[in-house]
Amino acid sequence: TVLVVDFGAQYAQLIARRVRECQVYSEIVPSTMPVAEMLAKKPKAIILSGGPSSVYAEGAPAAPEGLFETGVPTFGICYGFQVMAQALGGTVAKTGVAEFGRTDLTVVEPGRLFGTLPAAQQVWMSHGDSVSQAPEGFTVTASTKETPVAGFEHPDRGFYGVQFHPEVMHTDHGQKVLKAFLDAAGCRPSWTMLNIVEDAVEAVKAKIGDGRAICALSGGVDSAVAAAIVQRAIGDRLTCVFVDHGLLRKGEAEQVERDFVEITGVKLRVVDAAERFLKALSGVTDPEEKRKIIGREFIRVFEDEQRAILADGPVDFLVQGTLYPDVVESGGGTGTANIKSHHNVGGLPDDLQFDLVEPLRALFKDEVRRAGEQLGLPAAMVWRQPFPGPGLGIRIIGEVTHDRLEILREADAIAREELTRAGLDRDIWQCPVVLLADVRSVGVQGDGRTYGHPVVLRPVSSEDAMTADWSRVPYDVLARISTRITNEVREINRVTLDVTSKPPGTIEWE
Ligand code: XMP
Repeated sequence: TVLVVDFGAQYAQLIARRVRECQVYSEIVPSTMPVAEMLAKKPKAIILSGGPSSVYAEGAPAAPEGLFETGVPTFGICYGFQVMAQALGGTVAKTGVAEFGRTDLTVVEPGRLFGTLPAAQQVWMSHGDSVSQAPEGFTVTASTKETPVAGFEHPDRGFYGVQFHPEVMHTDHGQKVLKAFLDAAGCRPSWTMLNIVEDAVEAVKAKIGDGRAICALSGGVDSAVAAAIVQRAIGDRLTCVFVDHGLLRKGEAEQVERDFVEITGVKLRVVDAAERFLKALSGVTDPEEKRKIIGREFIRVFEDEQRAILADGPVDFLVQGTLYPDVVESGGGTGTANIKSHHNVGGLPDDLQFDLVEPLRALFKDEVRRAGEQLGLPAAMVWRQPFPGPGLGIRIIGEVTHDRLEILREADAIAREELTRAGLDRDIWQCPVVLLADVRSVGVQGDGRTYGHPVVLRPVSSEDAMTADWSRVPYDVLARISTRITNEVREINRVTLDVTSKPPGTIEWE
């Protein structure tokens, strides 16, 4: 295990991911964790993350007592670099000179971290103050125009540090620097997908024993992979429930019913609740009200199903597709169950007395996808882009009706097909297609006037959906989508493009 000590910036998760890309398992721990607790995890290496811009910044977190006396090889990054410098007798100067963004770095002494890398490279910086003097006995390995000490190391003591961010894409050789540290620390690449899946299956077996479990499938990748792992572990003693609320995209329900069952052999109960949801949504136009209704109906349907399943005997476990970022963000990592309402479509009732089984708790999204591939799930399911629990219900602006859903489903299917054909699926985070159901505009088609509805294409690129930019989809791809939608979907006579970033817009329109 490599521990990434989180000094409170968003960089820790990225560092942990990069370490895992080197096939070394990593875990994030808060900087407030006592060192004894860290050592109990038997780390082979420790990485100190970025954080506030300077150790002098107000409320800047300190290194835990004894962090530099553990004998475990330690790599300080950015703020972690400054913390290390200060703790080991170097000097951090309040220079007031900041460096942000792409910066030219000169390797002055390759040492262990830079090895054979080029002497001139570009790195990503984000700091206010700087290390002005390395601690005694350290070799300065790199510098920039503004920062004479941009990297140092003391291999004999197992200390390494850089001022820049090796974990971000914009740093030319960041991954190699990180890998060099892991090598120097003696971390071997043994964390492979095969091992991960096998370990997860074993862990679930141990936890559930001969008990029974249920799982709500959403059609998304997380719940599918979680269910597939649990199925491998306990077979028929897992029952999956898939609630088709009628707000899915074209082919999605069929995919879960057919492909997923075929490949995993999972015991699946499909509930066709489309009518029920439509009825509940009838006449409703307010976005929040729609969301609440969909969430409420979902829970009711799921409860009914549970009752039916419980008739066959007790169920002790509920499978959830909770991912590592959720665990980290809910301040955890300590094993406390924290059911997020957005997880597995729409939240579950509080009075359920189940133990949670969360086989993906240690994994990042891209790792879940690779685990899904390892389990043999279809690519379309594994690489599926995010789709909101309330589904097309929040992509019809206005009342949700059967006919409007049909129209949107067709338009959406065309957009998806063309984006896939253009090879853009993995460049685009997601591309909602939104039906402006209460808007009409005049058009001309064939020989006649039309008076149809517009759809909005909302392709976005994003890292985590917290912020997003509109994707610059090539014009010819947009043209094909537009032509096909207006030709093939009779009710739509206009296709528009949403060019708003988030913020100020959100990704979904409702
Ligand atoms: P917004 O619209 O808030 O969306 O920018 C951010 C991301 O979250 C998805 N989304 C949801 N996912 N239940 C979900 O499971 C929801 O109620 C929900 N609302 C939005 C959205 O598709 C985007 O990826």
